[in-house]
Amino acid sequence: MKRKIVVVGSCNTDMVIPVEHLPLPGETIIGGDLLTNQGGKGANQAVAVARFGGEVELIARVGDDGFGRQTIESLRREGVGTSRIRLTPGVPSGVALIAVDAKGENSIMVSSGANARLTPEDVEEAGEMLREADVVLMQLETPLPTLTKAASLAREAGCRVVLNPAPYPPTPLPAAFLGLIDLITPNETEAMAMSGISITDEASALEAIRAIRAQGVKQVVITAGGAGAYTELDGQLLHIEACPTHVVDTTAAGDTFCGVLCVALSEGASLPEAIAQANRAAALSVTRRGAWQSIPYRREVEEAKANSHPNHSL
Ligand code: RIB
Repeated sequence: MKRKIVVVGSCNTDMVIPVEHLPLPGETIIGGDLLTNQGGKGANQAVAVARFGGEVELIARVGDDGFGRQTIESLRREGVGTSRIRLTPGVPSGVALIAVDAKGENSIMVSSGANARLTPEDVEEAGEMLREADVVLMQLETPLPTLTKAASLAREAGCRVVLNPAPYPPTPLPAAFLGLIDLITPNETEAMAMSGISITDEASALEAIRAIRAQGVKQVVITAGGAGAYTELDGQLLHIEACPTHVVDTTAAGDTFCGVLCVALSEGASLPEAIAQANRAAALSVTRRGAWQSIPYRREVEEAKANSHPNHSL
């Protein structure tokens, strides 16, 4: 069954330079050819939803400039609903400058531009869309008061609120906001920032999950890259292993994971099944460069499932 997912989040144009190693402070390094492609955590997650077969709308702001218009046009081509993306005059569109090293690790600088102008009023005007959603999916590249408004409207309407807490802010997220979140998907660094616990094994993952749940979030899925993902079900730690893969570029792997997780859950998959699908999609995305251009289609994820080792066939 096709259910509606509304993403509230950012749109960026990503400028990516491949480098041997990430630059140190004060260091200038010569990298490879520039790759310009569409990105932004909100847009990436919306595209991941669309390519996995979900019906998706994006609530966002872009600048009234070439990048902004290109973003809206590209989202339309992907089948993402854009009726609630506003062109914002006098402000540049969001841009991300990304360095990717030889191991596929990245370092990202974001200029938020129009993303920082997404207001609670923008979200209120899209109230009907939020009320009709099955899942509302958010990240932290747009202002917190706006996200809080979206989460509370969604909650009032009984729809599931999913937060990817990236990038994690310098100050802790308020309890009033976390109390509106049904499912949160931190990576290990974000989970450590939220819980104070460094994730080194299953026991510490469970401790971190419990510490985050104690802050008011109902369900926690910690993504751990090559180690897969952790969650707690019926009081037990569940560790869903990652699919082995060759890493070229990890950009948008977390976004791919979140988009696919939400579609699978909205279709009625169990949490372990949804995490396994999301792991598979993320593993495919890291084998390719870039953000949108690395996000797989459902057909590819299903093929990966069919070809997977029994340990990864959930
Ligand atoms: O999560 C990856 C994204 O982070 C990139 O596409 C970049 O735009 C930044 O927002």
